[in-house]
Amino acid sequence: MTTTPQAARGDDERDEVELSPLFARPGEATVLPKFRLPGGESLPDTAYQIVRDEAMLDGNARMNLATFVGTWMDDHANRLYVESADKNMIDKDEYPHTAAIETRCWTMLADLWHAPDPDHAIGTSTIGSSEACMLGGLALKRRWQHARRAAGKTVDAPNLVMSSAVQVCWEKFCNYWDVEARFVPLTEDHRVLDPAALAGVVYENTIGVVAIMGVTYTGMYEPVAEIAAALDEIQRTTGLDVKIHVDGASGAMIAPFLQPDLAWDFRLDRVASINTSGHKYGLVYPGLGWVVWRDAAALPDDLVFRVSYLGGDMPTFALNFSRPGAQVLLQYYVFLRLGVEGHRRVQAASRAVAMYLAQQIEAMPAFDLWNDGSDIPVFAWRLRDGHTTNWTLYDLSERLRMKGWLVPAYPMPADLTEITVQRIVVRNGFSHDLADAFLADLTAETAFLDSLEGPLPARAPQPGFHH
Ligand SMILES: Cc1ncc(COP(=O)(O)O)c(C=O)c1O
Repeated sequence: MTTTPQAARGDDERDEVELSPLFARPGEATVLPKFRLPGGESLPDTAYQIVRDEAMLDGNARMNLATFVGTWMDDHANRLYVESADKNMIDKDEYPHTAAIETRCWTMLADLWHAPDPDHAIGTSTIGSSEACMLGGLALKRRWQHARRAAGKTVDAPNLVMSSAVQVCWEKFCNYWDVEARFVPLTEDHRVLDPAALAGVVYENTIGVVAIMGVTYTGMYEPVAEIAAALDEIQRTTGLDVKIHVDGASGAMIAPFLQPDLAWDFRLDRVASINTSGHKYGLVYPGLGWVVWRDAAALPDDLVFRVSYLGGDMPTFALNFSRPGAQVLLQYYVFLRLGVEGHRRVQAASRAVAMYLAQQIEAMPAFDLWNDGSDIPVFAWRLRDGHTTNWTLYDLSERLRMKGWLVPAYPMPADLTEITVQRIVVRNGFSHDLADAFLADLTAETAFLDSLEGPLPARAPQPGFHH
């Protein structure tokens, strides 16, 4: 976020948008203010042209290997999107069928994630995983408060335990809701949360532990079953009953299809809630997340508001009020269209490309893999020790950008910040062909950098990369 309007403008120094004379119509303004509401009107064609021309300058989504977020849906989905763009998710009276479809979707997720009784689980759609994580965290906090008050204890200093590689939404949660963030640092040997470290950080004020299925930095799964076992042991020795929220922003839509035997979900009694992003491997356009609690007891009732619905009442738990309903319908479309088998095939195709790319990159003398893309179709690599002092992965990222590829380089989280990695997220639509085109550019740009006779100027590390 930028903090001042001036900062938000960046390099945008001109205060006006000019209309090409080719589009100007008699009597219409040809120059419009950029940062003030124009005094007069424009024809729809004109306004459309201006907005479209500017939006066209955004990146090419197909060459964006940085983002997890869906950028393509098929024609039927596009039709549905346009036809349902007017639906407001909160207006359950006006759009009871959209509300019913929302319930069907999260009940399907509850089943997919092995809730003991999916029909008695509870869940909601959200605007993304960030909101879903906030709701998961709030439920943990409120449950802890109730338990503490019931035992006549204070509720002053709650903390949440997680690895230092959590996505920024968890730092936001802790900041916005006055919860201390207790980070378990990563190390070269423990590239994900180390369950053995929990005994040293979990205390009576711990509201819960976050386990990430698909660490944003690398795509690796955290060992949820081992984390649950460590918490069982803590309960055995201290009596503390600490629950887990699984942040499955990406992995909760991969693991059920590609690693069906991995127990990371409600099969583990300690898992109270799970979130995912419909707009990541849920294969829907941006603006959709999901959170599901294993049963009604996991979501304190005093967090739930009742809105009127078909003459009855509909419970809601959300940070937003009005928000688009179209994405929920798109998720339902994807669920119906693909089913379990279709999801498995789509996600397996992405994983095959990720593992192929990882193998090819591992075979290049300049690089060492950090992980191989076999969890979610995401992997990272670093510059091989001793390979060069003339260039860094930041230079390579910049060279690739000149070819149109967005492949971020960034420092690893706290305690590993001296390590820089570069990461690729393979999404639906990134084919083997495209992967070969990328590898050709990667090989050429690496060869170019290796041919330098002296070091490139050093630059400050880029800020952490969070999506
Ligand atoms: C593990 C994890 N959690 C949460 C988020 C936030 O997700 P969203 O962008 O859907 O708010 C991300 C985004 O990349 C993520 O990787």
